[in-house]
Amino acid sequence: FKVKKPENEPVLSYGAYSNERAQLKAKLRELKETQIEIPLIVGGKEIYTGNTKKCLIPHNKDHVLGIYHMAGEQEIEMAIEAALQAKKEWDEMPWQHRASIFLKAAELLSGPWRYTLNAATMLGQSKTAYQAEIDSACELIDFIRFNTYFMTEIYDDQLISTNECWNRIEYRPLEGFVFSVTPFNFTAIGGNLAISPALMGNVVLWKPSRTAVYSNYFVMKLLQEAGLPDGVINFVPSSGGLIGNKVFNHESLAGIHFTGSTGVFNTMWKTIGENIDKYKSYPKIVGETGGKDFIFAHSLANINKLVTALIRGAFEYQGQKCSAASRAYIPNSIWTVLKCKLISEASTIKMGDIEDFTNFMGAVIDKESFDKIKSYIDFARNSDEAEIIWGGKCDDRVGYFIEPTIIATKDPYFKTMTEEIFGPVLTIYVYEDEKFEETLKICNESTPYGLTGGIFSQDRKALILMERLLKYAAGNLYINDKPTGAVVGQQPFGGARASGTNDKAGSKLNLLRWANPRVIKETF
Ligand code: SER
Repeated sequence: FKVKKPENEPVLSYGAYSNERAQLKAKLRELKETQIEIPLIVGGKEIYTGNTKKCLIPHNKDHVLGIYHMAGEQEIEMAIEAALQAKKEWDEMPWQHRASIFLKAAELLSGPWRYTLNAATMLGQSKTAYQAEIDSACELIDFIRFNTYFMTEIYDDQLISTNECWNRIEYRPLEGFVFSVTPFNFTAIGGNLAISPALMGNVVLWKPSRTAVYSNYFVMKLLQEAGLPDGVINFVPSSGGLIGNKVFNHESLAGIHFTGSTGVFNTMWKTIGENIDKYKSYPKIVGETGGKDFIFAHSLANINKLVTALIRGAFEYQGQKCSAASRAYIPNSIWTVLKCKLISEASTIKMGDIEDFTNFMGAVIDKESFDKIKSYIDFARNSDEAEIIWGGKCDDRVGYFIEPTIIATKDPYFKTMTEEIFGPVLTIYVYEDEKFEETLKICNESTPYGLTGGIFSQDRKALILMERLLKYAAGNLYINDKPTGAVVGQQPFGGARASGTNDKAGSKLNLLRWANPRVIKETF
């Protein structure tokens, strides 16, 4: 038995005067007027610890959307126990029933829940309607439907048997619980990091990012409405250190599913290493971490396509996608024309409140991010090696707004060319055309990362050379396109080097990490 091969969820456009825009606006109003109180959800029960934090709107920082409760040591222990308790039945549940629960969640999200989740993501994470739609609605629906399909392909792929013996392979869940630690920038990634191990029969502790608790809580409520049994996924906002201390010391830790910074992931890996004697099984470690994603243009690049890719790749969602284009290599022969078109395009970008649907950018996520991004811009401003050719203003009076900023540098190793900034800052290095190969090598080696990249040329030989010399620079390489916007089922996503374990979100490779296969041979 197989589920039907899915198609990608159609992206709604929310055009002016459309019914969908009206529904989304109504939901935005409703959420802004209702201050919600977000509990932990442990074993299906709501827990209010009294240790609370605020959910704020990044582009209107004084507006409080609600408060959320933080788990303490006792609640974390309870969550682990609830997960292990739920495992007894979840482990035995036929996969068709597990799938059915998540497919129902996808169906609900395709219907009325779409507006709730999009509005929550727009308000809590300052995404425009379009960015929220492709993330929290379409990508999450696609993750669920495609992963369910991939799961059936895994289960279907059986061993060779003979007349005398029958060989079977059984994809058991892991023996323990999975710890899902999720990022702010994609609601879909938050949901998927918890859902995909659960789909494969595992139980999960879900620690959402502190700046995405708001939308992630609605994902949890959606799963409950779809019939997720109590304790299968436990929603536990908490401080990283506190929850890490409990989880990484527990004998039943069976896996971590992480998206976030390279530094945090390295600390987790080291802690697991130090505690390795404590665990029943070697925990599976799956992580997507940092990036310094690039666009590399050859002299025969299509300039208009390149401009679109630079603008959309660098500035959509304020450059806060792990795949965002943050460094570019441009040949001198096309620089003058490109610079002119790029600045002209950048000058049309509107930034502000995401409830104004004509805005292309909102605010960056919080004060910490704002300060960090600003410090990089200030560094460039004060350097002789760089020039800010567009943008550069930062204003946090109402919200955390940073203008789309373009820096040109003479140094391919300049700080903003090599360090991850995670904001709307694009640095461009202009190379001499005859140094094409040499510059490709610099692009390949000048950062520790290997997540995404876009290469531009209309010359096949140049493309082949670029693909070869940038072999490990990107786990997702795009030809004549921006390095963002991987579509589930079409471009499984992830990178290697300091960008993660490259287990490709939205693929069989990823799902297999959540399985503990048993081979059974029976003779007749
Ligand atoms: N999957 C996203 C993209 O491709 C990043 O996480 O942009």
